[in-house]
Amino acid sequence: MKSVLDWPTSMPILDSSERASQRGVDDLAIFGGRPAFEQLLHVGRPNIGDRQKFSSRVDDILDRRWLTNDGPYVSEFEQRIVELTEVKHCIVTCNATIALEIAIRALGLKGEVIVPSFTFIATAHALQWQEITPVFCDIDPQTHTIDPKAIEPLITSKTSGILAVNLWGRHCDIAALEALAQRHGLKLLFDSAHAFGCSYQGRMIGGSGDAEVFSFHATKFLNSMEGGAIVTNNDELAQQTRLMRNFGFTSYDHVASLGINGKMSEVCAAMGLTNLESMDEFIAVNRRNYQQYKEELAGLAGVTLVANDETEKCNYQYVVLEIDMYRTAVSRDELMKVLYSEKVLARRYFYPGCHRMAPYKATLADLSLPETERISERVLSLPTGTSLSPGDISTICEIIKLVVNNGREVSTKLRSVAVQGSKWS
Ligand SMILES: Cc1ncc(COP(=O)(O)O)c(C=O)c1O
Repeated sequence: MKSVLDWPTSMPILDSSERASQRGVDDLAIFGGRPAFEQLLHVGRPNIGDRQKFSSRVDDILDRRWLTNDGPYVSEFEQRIVELTEVKHCIVTCNATIALEIAIRALGLKGEVIVPSFTFIATAHALQWQEITPVFCDIDPQTHTIDPKAIEPLITSKTSGILAVNLWGRHCDIAALEALAQRHGLKLLFDSAHAFGCSYQGRMIGGSGDAEVFSFHATKFLNSMEGGAIVTNNDELAQQTRLMRNFGFTSYDHVASLGINGKMSEVCAAMGLTNLESMDEFIAVNRRNYQQYKEELAGLAGVTLVANDETEKCNYQYVVLEIDMYRTAVSRDELMKVLYSEKVLARRYFYPGCHRMAPYKATLADLSLPETERISERVLSLPTGTSLSPGDISTICEIIKLVVNNGREVSTKLRSVAVQGSKWS
């Protein structure tokens, strides 16, 4: 079997003689040069485990003619997640957004729920979809996760819970959140969409608060194509969410509660199980990529790589830069434009913050979340994962260094030259 640790060969880059280190500002693709890459480099390009094992699982599914509705691969996937996270119950779902919605409903959240604005929009939408008002809270600028100190002033008589996000796989201040929730009698739910395979105080993420939710979307380092999971140590909540996932059916003709179709298909579970078998390799590649970015961008003034908590387990699935344009003289958006032209589709996760997006911004024009706004102007996520080679990462770093080391010139040129909008932007 070809290991995921073998470098991909499908991503041709410029010859070494044409590499970015030998290029000047005028050679950048945005100013008319040849792009550094021939194929687009995406953030979150899927990691894919052993294809033969996946194919043989798909054959099993077809032979059994059991495509969905709590099939054997779904049960096995749930069992593997229980073992890995050491949480009592796992209920896998068709995606994490539905998992959040089911967990929110099963927990009886209503009125207002406090949530960070610096997150993927699904976190807020999962509340609003159920006519619960997301009350947006600021973040700790060091960790990019919800700031427990900023929560207390937001609690009102309508607050029913806190929905915290373990962003980038980095844990929140979970102890502080649990204490706060307990003190105020609030439910505590974690959106751990990014945090599968990560730990908090030496224990795998998944067992905190009332429940946690993982995403196995194709862009996540561990994917089931589409997929999510609710994990909880609460027996009653587990039973309720399992019922809700399948329309509330307890048996063929009996419905016990309101429910939805949140089921995961057997093919998705087969993909999840197959990828779980390569999970350690995916993390090893991500960690190596992260280290390489860190080393190659070290000392670049105004550019900081967002740190992981090195005392904990981490999946390293996000490589996030913070660009301080007062030091680089080139803005995050300008750097992103240059990278796009080179076919590196770096992403502004999670710009501009949920409170600045529809539908929330319509009523929140006066809301100021200084750290969220400052950080969301600065962050840039870079490609990583098993589809990237060390040569690709070097080339990306060389472009970044070329742009930042010539920040003023690049910025002036971008503004003065009428650059055609990139077709990838
Ligand atoms: C923080 C966060 N929450 C929720 C989701 C929703 O996950 P899914 O795409 O599985 O519905 C995502 C997806 O990227 C996410 O990043």
